[in-house]
Amino acid sequence: MMNCPNCNAPIAPGVAFCPECGTRRPAGDGPIRVLQGRYELIRKLGQGGMGSVYLASDRRLSTVRWAVKEMSDALITSPLERHSAVEAFRHEAELLARLSHPNLPRVTDHFSEEGKNYLVMEFVPGHTLLDYMQRNGLPRPLDEALGWASQICDVLGYLHSQQPPIIFRDLKPANVMITPEGQLKLVDFGIARIFKQGQAKDTQAYGTMGYSAPEQYGRGQTDARSDIYSLGVLLHQLLTGHDPAATPFRLPPAGALNPAVPAHISAAIARATDNDPQQRFSSLAELRQALLPTSGFVQLQGQQQQAPAVWATLPVNPGPPSAAPGSQAYGAPGSQPYGAPGSQPYGVPARTTTGLATAAFWLGIVSAAWMALALAVVATGAIAGDPESLFTGFGALLAFPPLLAGPLAALLGVFALVSKETAATINGRRHAAVGVAAGTVALLLCCAVIAVIPSSSTTTGAESAALVSYWI
Ligand SMILES: Nc1ncnc2c1ncn2[C@@H]1O[C@H](COP(=O)(O)OP(=O)(O)O)[C@@H](O)[C@H]1O
Ligand SMILES: [Mg+2]
Repeated sequence: MMNCPNCNAPIAPGVAFCPECGTRRPAGDGPIRVLQGRYELIRKLGQGGMGSVYLASDRRLSTVRWAVKEMSDALITSPLERHSAVEAFRHEAELLARLSHPNLPRVTDHFSEEGKNYLVMEFVPGHTLLDYMQRNGLPRPLDEALGWASQICDVLGYLHSQQPPIIFRDLKPANVMITPEGQLKLVDFGIARIFKQGQAKDTQAYGTMGYSAPEQYGRGQTDARSDIYSLGVLLHQLLTGHDPAATPFRLPPAGALNPAVPAHISAAIARATDNDPQQRFSSLAELRQALLPTSGFVQLQGQQQQAPAVWATLPVNPGPPSAAPGSQAYGAPGSQPYGAPGSQPYGVPARTTTGLATAAFWLGIVSAAWMALALAVVATGAIAGDPESLFTGFGALLAFPPLLAGPLAALLGVFALVSKETAATINGRRHAAVGVAAGTVALLLCCAVIAVIPSSSTTTGAESAALVSYWI
């Protein structure tokens, strides 16, 4: 069964014209696949780590559209991994099927077919928050951002109130959809797991750099406060345009980046995104209270039901038949690509490192390796026990370049560490620290070279040089 491209009425297989409006059935536009003899996969809505999501029509309920999530086999390499992935998927399906919240898509079915596992859920028309941000630019107006934050507080609060609590764990713009009515829906429970209380440490680290709390990277137990962290990051991004991946775990104060952000909002974001979970709000209710004192909240609750004005400029994800690939206006002339000059007045470029940090890194590594070689050569001379050993002289000469380069690397590393430019990159500080450490190692190895030389030889540097040139 397919739907008419003109009036969306169902057209039975083998019928050449729409029974409602008479439009000719488009040729070669059949479903990608039919599952369970019922769900016709029409087109791919998205693809990611856990699998693909398809838009599907239903042969049994002809007016209904579903989003069908397929678990991809591509990433599963061993039978054991496959088994645990299938279990995780079924668990996710059962978990979601019993949830009911306006900000979550309803899950209605799950099944396995031909070695793949499928989750059937309510199709959410509209776009992801990521698309929206790319299309409309950042920062967003305060009332719009707070209206969204309020909805996310609601649904996360609902998830956390489950027994046992459900931690969403991967809140980010690509996993939040906005309907044309301005209602948010959290999609992608691919990494959501029931939080098992009393477990010392989560066995799997999940998350997306920038949005995920530090404890999600194996430093401790994740709980409701990890979702609070991600919501704080998301709100910070909406209000400032700052890319959180540019400075993971170090967000500049929102009020400093955008003076239009009120002090109490900036303070609430700072507290929500504190690296120490103990310092964060302990619940979504507490965070919402800080963001939306009662009167403002009532007003925003009313506003959130209306589509934001800018929505009119967005092409809505309408499902078939009108949403043929290519009809989406992303990147169309006039659109505002995220990160383009002007679209993010407060944005920080997401650079990975700086030249200074890279120079320190490589100079340090090369110096340390070179000095280690010099030590090995000198040590060989010492083992040979020959005071006139060529090894000793050659090793002493070898030690000179890294003796200069090592301290230089350490110095460059220190400069890079204190530079603001490096602090705004993802790996800059790490590279600078490696530069300092490796430069220091080169110096320590040099001390070892000096310690080894007198024990094996009385040869001075000049004599060593003469020895080497004679030998050559
Ligand atoms: N219920 C839904 N309705 C409409 N589109 C959806 C739905 N669920 C997911 N999508 C789309 O598919 C994309 C990928 O889905 P997601 O569940 O995030 O899977 P992944 O594990 O691949 O990240 C989303 O970003 C969204 O665009
Ligand atoms: Mg996703």
